[in-house]
Amino acid sequence: MSGKVLGIDFGTSTIKIYKKNEGVIFDAKNIIAVANGTQVIAIGDEAYEMYGKAPSNILVDYPVRSGVIADIANMLSLLNLAFDKISKKYGKITGAEFLVAAPTDITEVEKRAFFDLVASSNAKAKKVRIVEKPIADALGAELDVMTARGVMIVDIGADTTEVSIISLGGIVLSKLIPVGGNKVDEAIILNVKKTYNLIIGQKTAETIKKELGCALPPKEERTIRVYGRDVLSGLPIEREITASFVYETISEYMHSIIDAVRIILEKTPPEISSDIIDSGVYLTGGSAGIFELDRLMAQETELDINICEDPANTVVKGLGRIIENNKLSSLALTLKQTYYGG
Ligand SMILES: Nc1ncnc2c1ncn2[C@@H]1O[C@H](COP(=O)(O)OP(=O)(O)OP(=O)(O)O)[C@@H](O)[C@H]1O
Ligand SMILES: [Mg+2]
Repeated sequence: MSGKVLGIDFGTSTIKIYKKNEGVIFDAKNIIAVANGTQVIAIGDEAYEMYGKAPSNILVDYPVRSGVIADIANMLSLLNLAFDKISKKYGKITGAEFLVAAPTDITEVEKRAFFDLVASSNAKAKKVRIVEKPIADALGAELDVMTARGVMIVDIGADTTEVSIISLGGIVLSKLIPVGGNKVDEAIILNVKKTYNLIIGQKTAETIKKELGCALPPKEERTIRVYGRDVLSGLPIEREITASFVYETISEYMHSIIDAVRIILEKTPPEISSDIIDSGVYLTGGSAGIFELDRLMAQETELDINICEDPANTVVKGLGRIIENNKLSSLALTLKQTYYGG
């Protein structure tokens, strides 16, 4: 691939962009703040600062939900502003070619939305191609996807977990389930309210998860103090949250993820199963960082579980590998190829 080429991973919580010969040049919260229904006042990390704090005339929202574009107009505004920022720093991107990662287990219309979005952006794209997200994931995890050796990759993101089997540069099986870090945060918010009569925000829940979240019963009791609003008095208060409380709250979600892995394993052709027994399962996505999730999965599946390096960035890095290496360019598909399977 010559000239200007960019790769985009539209994640539910973050948007990441790769530029040829530069690397990952944009990594920001995939969130937009719109005032009075029309006026975009911030995108990315700046908009995230406003999340949970904005007055009622300012809507702060995530345009990607459950791995697909839920709000096309806001996603386009966000993307155009992201392109403006990139152009200022790295030079004009007008007429560039684009590679966009899209989940495999979504409808044709949902896949097309990724294509249309970039095609209609202010970048005046010369060409837009789609890369199956699990393929980008595996490449970004430094795995060889072109051989006949089967690979299982599990991307545990914000709104979704995508479990896929890859062999010979193609997807053998892929399942997208609506469970990820956001579901875990929501469960913490609900259980803190039910148990402690305390209302906390999403950011606090995420902090609790990152600090105390553990997929196995915690060996030692740890605690953190959090702030919220008392349901009864309505006043701000501080409370101590324990690791065992968090474990009990998130445990069922850890098992949902493992159940999805098990369902795919049961459908996996036997020759590929033996490859997976040999090399194990590869975990990517930001939520792969949940403490001891790899150990729980190993116990439940009796397979080796490998957490990939920098797991939240494997998809965008994988797009980068395709962009930089001509031998991999057949992995970027035209819209027609994604519809009819090549
Ligand atoms: N150390 C950590 N421990 C637990 N969770 C983490 C950690 N770091 C990040 N996360 C969670 O990872 C999620 C973000 O991961 P990622 O960037 O892979 O999602 P995404 O690509 O935007 O979403 P998706 O792939 O579902 O569309 C968030 O829910 C975040 O709370
Ligand atoms: Mg993702």
